[in-house]
Amino acid sequence: MLCILVRYLFKFNVQALVVFIAFCYLDFAASTASAQSLNFANPERPASGTLSKFMVSSGSILNPLGGRTGNADNGAKIVQSREGQCTLCHEVPGHSGQVGNLAPRLHGVGLRLTTAQLRLRIVNSSLINPQTIMPSYYKTEGLVNVDPKWSGLPLLNDQQIEDVVAYLAGLR
Ligand code: HEC
Repeated sequence: MLCILVRYLFKFNVQALVVFIAFCYLDFAASTASAQSLNFANPERPASGTLSKFMVSSGSILNPLGGRTGNADNGAKIVQSREGQCTLCHEVPGHSGQVGNLAPRLHGVGLRLTTAQLRLRIVNSSLINPQTIMPSYYKTEGLVNVDPKWSGLPLLNDQQIEDVVAYLAGLR
């Protein structure tokens, strides 16, 4: 009887160990896969040190970054992509996947804020609210623990920022 019990326990443990190892492997495989996709996620990021100049006045940035014209359809994709990561915190119209609730819903934000206000919000939210948890998407200074391969690069480039702004401005 004891022997059966011991054998049962042993068998159970071995199974548990196999399951555990399988999980570890899957987790490892997933993390390398996501690291790889991040690696190639954004080949069009500007080269280091090439942020366009912009002027902040009364909570806004009036001029489009680099004089780019935003494309709202691309903006919608960026907002829901892993590059934008907006849905970690915001609910956005038409997004059916998992969303966070750490931030206001973006429904109708184009009515609440002007295009110039939206631009500053995406470029550098901490200039609006120093305590904000929202990432500054167009900033390379003052960040800590940046992987060397991303150092000097903003999260989104000029065109991507303008695309996101165009999309948000259209949320009415
Ligand atoms: C880590 C969480 C987080 C992420 C990621 C995030 N935001 Fe935010 N966002 C916030 C919070 C919190 C606020 C509320 C104001 C504040 O605390 O600064 C906010 C405010 C805003 C506002 C102003 C909303 C209003 O009604 O006044 C806009 C627009 C916005 N975010 C757009 C975006 C977009 C677009 C993205 C992705 C490119 C994004 N956010 C990513 C947390 C986040």
